Amino acid sequence: MDIFRVEGPVRLSGSVTVSGSKNASLPIMAATILAPGKSSLAAIPNLSDISVCGELLGELGCKVTRESQGRLCIDATTVDNPVGEYEIVRRMRASICILGPLLARCGRAEVSMPGGCAIGDRPVNLHVRGLQALGAEIHLKNGYIIAEAPNGLTGRDIFMGGPFGSTVLGTANVLMAATLAKGRTVIESAACEPEIADLANCLNAMGARITGIGSHRLIIEGVEQLRPVRYKVIPDRIEAGTFMVAAAITAGELRIENCRLDDMMAAVDTLRNIGVTVETDGNGCVVSRTGPIKTADITTQPYPGFPTDLQAQFMALLSLADGNSVVIEKIFPDRSMHVAELNRMAANLRKEGPAVIVAGVKKLIAAPVMASDLRASAALVLAALAAEGETTINRVYHIDRGYERIEEKLNPLGAKITRENI
Ligand code: EPU
Repeated sequence: MDIFRVEGPVRLSGSVTVSGSKNASLPIMAATILAPGKSSLAAIPNLSDISVCGELLGELGCKVTRESQGRLCIDATTVDNPVGEYEIVRRMRASICILGPLLARCGRAEVSMPGGCAIGDRPVNLHVRGLQALGAEIHLKNGYIIAEAPNGLTGRDIFMGGPFGSTVLGTANVLMAATLAKGRTVIESAACEPEIADLANCLNAMGARITGIGSHRLIIEGVEQLRPVRYKVIPDRIEAGTFMVAAAITAGELRIENCRLDDMMAAVDTLRNIGVTVETDGNGCVVSRTGPIKTADITTQPYPGFPTDLQAQFMALLSLADGNSVVIEKIFPDRSMHVAELNRMAANLRKEGPAVIVAGVKKLIAAPVMASDLRASAALVLAALAAEGETTINRVYHIDRGYERIEEKLNPLGAKITRENI
């Protein structure tokens, strides 16, 4: 098992390039199931979640090969085993996004129910309801979702909103299934995250007929078949946001390449209110801080609101603010494993239901800490960059799920992170 030793405090400066988006890549990889033949995807990040997804597609019958740095070839000529085994799904719950495309391609799919995870229960009732609305028969057997539509799916008007707003992967599943359904589907209260827009653009490049992309109302005219695609995924807005916080928390200055600020306005606006300078520059931006960290109140929301996937990183930053901040998690109210770990580093955080009251402290102090989920782990790395002394972060595999060798990106900027296998 790998651990990080992080020596702080440091001041970061230099230029860093953002990788392709993990959360766009995963459903786009699943979308290739819909089109027999060879698809070629560019800017697919080299992450453990992507490897798991490749393994999963391989189990279904696809041939998955890394062609070069960032390019992935998926040959979906044969998809003859429409089963997502528990063994793989338990390692990555995003595996659920094969359910819709498998059902549309094969008329049947069996996918293990993903369990909960460190950030909460993670139900899939909305995925199931949406696919049922398209005519699928769905039941649960031995922990597997069995979905059947031997005579194909039929377009319908579907409302996809849930108690916590729209669902990203639920929208992805129904959208992918609807591309091959007979007639017209309208998805109301669709997730409008940039990753869903990217998926819809990719599906259109495969021959789908989707309009309303980027809005809460997706309209899909079903087509007979889709063709393989060459497609490049968008930059990872969460990795970009993590680098922005890295610049801010270390009072540094970073040029962040391959970053679409338009996808990140809520985070950028919050940074500016905190006293961080964010300036557009070519295909990226320059982020710097010279003054004190000001307080901010953050509430996570579906896009275009403040993303839950940056909540932990911003909490690390606000823990050094000049006063009290409140962070409210509205998407995953239990996403707070980082709170206790940051407190071990001398932060002063108090959880009250889905809210965390962040009382700013003058400095963070290194400690041994435990990575619990992907974004919580990123928050610990950020805190460690600013903390006095050597922080040891255990269970680094969580970080590797969503960040391409984060230490190799941060060390050339002045970070002192060593990876050790213990
Ligand atoms: N929800 C339901 N029923 C459902 C599905 C979701 O009630 O059937 C609830 C969830 O419990 C949650 C809310 O709806 O309260 C939103 O969940 P959503 O379905 O949008 O999450 P997801 O699609 O499973 C994706 C990202 C997450 C990100 C969330 C929210 C991928 C692979 N995962 O998950 O990313 O936090 O959207 O933006 O796209 C991460 O990258 O670290 C990560 C966890």
